[in-house]
Amino acid sequence: MNLNEFMDVNKQKRLDELFDFLRIPSVSAKSEHKKDVLACAEWLSKHLNGIGIESKIMPTGGHPVVYAEKMVSPNKLTILYYGHYDVQPPEPLELWKTAPFEPLIEDGYIIARGATDDKGQLWTHVKALEAYTATGRDLPVNVKLLIEGEEEAGSENLERFIRENADLLKADIIVVSDSGQFGKDKPAVTYGLRGLAFVEVKITGPNRDLHSGSFGGSIANPINVLGRIIGALHDENGKIAIDGFYDDVKPLTDWEKKQFAALPFDKNEYLAKTGSKGLFGESGYSVLEQIWGRPTLDVNGITGGYQGEGAKTIIPSWATCKITMRLVADQDPLDICDKAEKYIRKICPDYVSCEVTKHGGARGVVVPTEGPWLEAAGRAIKTGFGIDPVFVKEGGSIPVVGTFKEVLGLDTLLLGWGQSDDNAHSPNERFALKDFERGCYASLALIDELSKVKV
Ligand code: BES
Ligand code: MN
Ligand code: MN
Repeated sequence: MNLNEFMDVNKQKRLDELFDFLRIPSVSAKSEHKKDVLACAEWLSKHLNGIGIESKIMPTGGHPVVYAEKMVSPNKLTILYYGHYDVQPPEPLELWKTAPFEPLIEDGYIIARGATDDKGQLWTHVKALEAYTATGRDLPVNVKLLIEGEEEAGSENLERFIRENADLLKADIIVVSDSGQFGKDKPAVTYGLRGLAFVEVKITGPNRDLHSGSFGGSIANPINVLGRIIGALHDENGKIAIDGFYDDVKPLTDWEKKQFAALPFDKNEYLAKTGSKGLFGESGYSVLEQIWGRPTLDVNGITGGYQGEGAKTIIPSWATCKITMRLVADQDPLDICDKAEKYIRKICPDYVSCEVTKHGGARGVVVPTEGPWLEAAGRAIKTGFGIDPVFVKEGGSIPVVGTFKEVLGLDTLLLGWGQSDDNAHSPNERFALKDFERGCYASLALIDELSKVKV
C-alpha cells in the first residue's frame, strides 16, 4: 500500500481515534482536571508508541510534556513537531449545542472542545507519520515531537523544559499546526504571531461590604473606581494610554501594509462571523493591521459586588479584573507588565488601595517569509489543499515559538488548518472535516517536501 492509499483507507479510523483524544477533558487551567490532563498525556504517549514512534512522558513543573521521536539516520534532516494536548475550559456549558467532550459530526464539522485547538490539528501530523510506519516505510527524515499540556495556561514551565532539554530537541526545522487558514479554502502560512502580557488588578475599598444608603457618596465604591481605571486605559482614538506602551513598537512596513491590503477582506462577512454590530479600534489602521500588526489591551474578566438575583444595595469591599495585552514583535512582556502597573498605580485614587499582580507573558514572533523551508511548506499545502497558500500574520499567541528561536536557534513553520470561525476558546468549537482531511494530506506531503530541503 502506498502512503496516499493508507491515508485514503484509514479515514474513519483516524477520525475515531481523534474522537477518543477529544473525549479526554484535558483542561489545563483548572486543578480539578489535573488527572484528566495526565490521562490525556498517557493516552497520547501510548498511541505514539503504538504507531512505532517511541514516546515518553516527561515531567515539568506543571503538566507533563509528551515527547516522542523516531530517529532514522544522522545523515537525514530532523523535524521537530510542536503541538498542545491541553484545551481551554469549555464554559459556559449552556451555550454548547452538544456536550463539549462528546465529539460528533454535524454538517461536516467535528464539534468538541479541542477540535481545532489543537488536538485536531496535531492529529494530522501524527497520522501522516503513521502512514510511513504502518506501511513499513522508513521516514525520509528524523522526527521529534514535543507536545505540551499547558499551552492554554501560558506555557509557564515550557521554556525551562526546553533549556534543560536543548540537546534532546536538536532539529533543523520546527513545524506547528495551531493556527488558521485565511478563510474558507484559503490555506495560509503564518509568519507572525502577537505576544502577550497578563496582569490582574484588585481595588479594595472598605474592609467589608457597606450599606450603600448609609455610606454611599462618602466612601468610594471599588467597582466604580475600577471602571474608571479601565476606562482610562485607552484614549478616544483607541490608543493604549499606558505611559511608554508604544516605545518599542515599530511602525508597519510598506511591504506589510501592501501585503495585508492585497488579501481579500470583506467587512460585512467579518462582522457576520463575529455577530457584531460594527467595527471599532485604533484609528488609522485597517482591521488586518489592527489584529496582526498592532498591540492591544483587553479586560478578559471582571469580578466584584453582588451578582445574585434581585438587588442588594451595597458598596462592595473590592473589585478585580484580568487584563491581557497583545504585543507586537519588539515589546517585552515583563517591561509591559511593569509599565501597566506603574500607570494603574498612578491613576488610582488614594482613597482605595490597589494591587497589581504581574504574570509576564510571551514575546510576539516573526518568522521568515522566504527560503527553502517556506517553499517546501507551500508545495505541501498545494498538494493537500489543491490551492496555493497566502501569507498571513495572526493576532493570537503561541508562547513557545519565541523560545524555539531564542534557545534552539530554530525557525518555525506555522501551518494552520483551522478557521477563525472554528470557535476556538468559545462554545461549540469545531473543525471542518474537510479541513482536517486536507490537513492530513498536506502533513503527509510536508514530510517528503521537507526531507528534500538542502540546508
Ligand atoms: N492556537 C492558539 C494560538 C492562536 C490563536 C494562533 C489564533 C493563531 C490564531 C493557542 O492555543 C492560544 O490560544 N494561545 C493563547 C496563549 C496564551 C494563553 C498565552 C492565546 O493566544 O491567547
Ligand atoms: Mn492552540
Ligand atoms: Mn488556544
